[in-house]
Amino acid sequence: MSKKTVKDYIRTIVDFPHEGILFRDVTTLFADPRGFRMAVDQMLHPYAGLQIDKVVGLEARGFILGGAIAHQLSVGFVPVRKKGKLPGRTISQEYTLEYGEAIVELHEDAIQPGEKILLVDDLLATGGTAEAGIKLIERLGGEIISCSFVIDLPDLGGRKRLEAMGMEVLSLCEFE
Ligand code: PRP
Ligand code: ADE
Repeated sequence: MSKKTVKDYIRTIVDFPHEGILFRDVTTLFADPRGFRMAVDQMLHPYAGLQIDKVVGLEARGFILGGAIAHQLSVGFVPVRKKGKLPGRTISQEYTLEYGEAIVELHEDAIQPGEKILLVDDLLATGGTAEAGIKLIERLGGEIISCSFVIDLPDLGGRKRLEAMGMEVLSLCEFE
C-alpha cells in the first residue's frame, strides 16, 4: 500500500454549511498525529533558511496550523480574527466569502513596519478571506513573504486572485 498523503486525511462533508457546498474538513487531518505533523512539516519546508519574523493565522483553522508553524520557526504568532473578538485597538477589513460576508480584524500594534510575514490558513477558496488578511497586514507595513494553505480549491479562483496581488501562494493539495 502506498504512503498516505495529506489529502488522504481530509474528510469531505456534503451540503455543509449550505446545500451544494462540499466542505473540506481538516479536523480529521489535525486529529491524526502523522497527518498533522506531515501537514505542518510540508508547510514549513519551503521557508527553511528564509527570514520570517511572524506567522499570521486566519480564524479559525489558520490558528491551529499557524501556531504549530510559528512554534517550529521560533517566531511569534498573530491572529486575524472575526469582528469583535480582539480586545485591543484594531484595524478592520470587509470581505466576501464563498457563502456570506464578514469583517476581519487585526490588532494595530501586532505587526511592525518591515516585518516579514508568513500568512497561513487551512483552505483557499475565493481568496476573499486571505485578501482581507493581506490588506490588514500591508496596512500595518508588514511584508508578506508567502501565503501557505493546506488546501487550494482552484475552481474558485483564490490562487489567481492572490497572485494578481503579487503574492506567492503555496498549497499542499487541491480539490475540484
Ligand atoms: C474558511 C477557511 C478559510 C476561508 C476560505 O473559513 O478556513 O478561512 O473559509 O474561503 P475564501 O477563500 O472564499 O475566503 P470560514 O469562513 O469557514 O471560517 P472559520 O474558519 O472561522 O469557520
Ligand atoms: N471555506 C470556503 N469554502 C470551503 C469549503 N468548500 N470547504 C471548507 N471550508 C471552506
